[in-house]
Amino acid sequence: MSGADRWSGGDAYERYVGRWSRLVAPIFVDWLAIGPGRRWLDVGCGTGALTTTVLARADPASIVGIDPSADFVAHASQRVGDPRARFAVGDAQAIPLDAGSVDVVVAGLVLNFVPDPAAGLAEIVRVAAPGATVAGYVWDYAEGMQLMRHFFDAAIALDPAAMAEDEGVRFPICAPEPLEAEFVGAGLHAVKVRAIEIPTVFESFDEYWSPFLSGVGAAPAFAMRLDEDRRNEIRDRLRATLPTEPDGSIHLVARAWAARGRTTGTRDNARRSTV
Ligand SMILES: C[S@@+](CC[C@H](N)C(=O)[O-])C[C@H]1O[C@@H](n2cnc3c(N)ncnc32)[C@H](O)[C@@H]1O
Repeated sequence: MSGADRWSGGDAYERYVGRWSRLVAPIFVDWLAIGPGRRWLDVGCGTGALTTTVLARADPASIVGIDPSADFVAHASQRVGDPRARFAVGDAQAIPLDAGSVDVVVAGLVLNFVPDPAAGLAEIVRVAAPGATVAGYVWDYAEGMQLMRHFFDAAIALDPAAMAEDEGVRFPICAPEPLEAEFVGAGLHAVKVRAIEIPTVFESFDEYWSPFLSGVGAAPAFAMRLDEDRRNEIRDRLRATLPTEPDGSIHLVARAWAARGRTTGTRDNARRSTV
């Protein structure tokens, strides 16, 4: 994670990206097709978008959500009352769980924020049991995550130096081939990558723009580091260029790249090794 990205303020996060992650999550969880009764881990659980979906659709035995943001962990703990779920402060690069202790590890919109994604994936593989599923999704920042793409395109048009902040530039892992390569490099097999597209509809320009003023998340944190005049120039350019319907609504789409793979061994081996 860039030191400048900000992860606190659960309600603001929900308005910015959490609500869109909640639309990707069901498609992602269904794609994994995991049976009931498994032990899940949600790395970088944030406000609990993916954990909530796993509880609703995959009938887990248990799910642990970890996130370095104590604020997000508190938000998720307060709102997810399911006894199968627990949340803890923790980092992908030092997961506070025993080796081989979970059957499924998921990470929604997280891997690109881990300072060393390969180290994060290695740690995820450590805590995963033999034959476990390891999976995640990231936004297609370079192209298909349109609400952020429009924001950075406007910022760069006004000042090319903004390119250094563009998440499409900062996060090369957020494309199908590099994402697949990270999973394969972590020793996972049967690796598959797919696109997940969801509609992101805003009733008004203000609904689109106001989350950027919260400072929560990478692009809003950048927006709030700018001086007010430059921020207003970006706002005005977006207001003029976003595709806007006659009723003022703005209909965009957001594309995520999802990846999944399996650790070596079989679940039967995992059971045998514990007896
Ligand atoms: C875009 S949010 C995604 C949150 C949630 N998974 C969702 O889908 O809404 C990114 C999350 O990654 C977390 N994060 C950042 N660095 C991390 C790290 N090194 N290990 C684990 N999580 C990290 C942030 O605290 C934040 O909650």
